[in-house]
Amino acid sequence: NPKAFIFDLDGVITDTAEFHYQAWKQLAEELGIHIDREFNEQLKGISRMDSLDRILALDSSYQSLAAEEKEGLATKKNEHYKQLMQAITPEHILPGIKDFLDTIKSNKIEIALASASKNAPMILEQLQLSDYFRYIVDPAKLSNGKPDPEIFTTAADFLSVDYSECIGVEDAASGVQAINAASMFSVGVGDKEVLAAADMVVEDTTGLDFNKIIEAFRQARN
Ligand code: G6P
Ligand code: MG
Repeated sequence: NPKAFIFDLDGVITDTAEFHYQAWKQLAEELGIHIDREFNEQLKGISRMDSLDRILALDSSYQSLAAEEKEGLATKKNEHYKQLMQAITPEHILPGIKDFLDTIKSNKIEIALASASKNAPMILEQLQLSDYFRYIVDPAKLSNGKPDPEIFTTAADFLSVDYSECIGVEDAASGVQAINAASMFSVGVGDKEVLAAADMVVEDTTGLDFNKIIEAFRQARN
């Protein structure tokens, strides 16, 4: 069996990927920049500042913003986001996730969180899921974001588990890339084409079947 499951948060455990999109869209509109869902795929898994940079890159009039101005815009997006976040309750845990976490736990496999979001600990609290997680990586302490493997290897290092014995679960292409670069087994949740690099893809969280994942993991390790 694997020794650890390392989860992404937004779009895997709860649908905050949608809230991030809404908050960025609101900020972008205030700046007169148009973004759509297709563009948003690029923002999944990426840090707040990197996301802002990608949005500002769409409009030539924002190319020479000072660092403080960018900080201000990033903070504004986070204010929009926190507003939306207030509504999050345990009812917002995506279907199947609670059972999946229970099954992992009863099989004595470690669980950690590898989210680029600084709001992640707060969201887990609101979902009442904090107790499942042995470790939550602090993204502020990382040198490199996804697709760099650092966030996943940091979790495994804390748990003292070999990377090859970890399974990472992600909804973002950058996250799947990060898991693969860490030599972990990657499970993608979402669109098959977007997540084509994953070792295994399920359409949504109801497809996270513990036995099927373990079987695919074992096959890949043989
Ligand atoms: C996750 C989300 C991104 C978000 C990032 C930073 O990776 O997928 O959409 O931008 O976290 O989140 P934060 O809550 O710190 O702004
Ligand atoms: Mg995500």
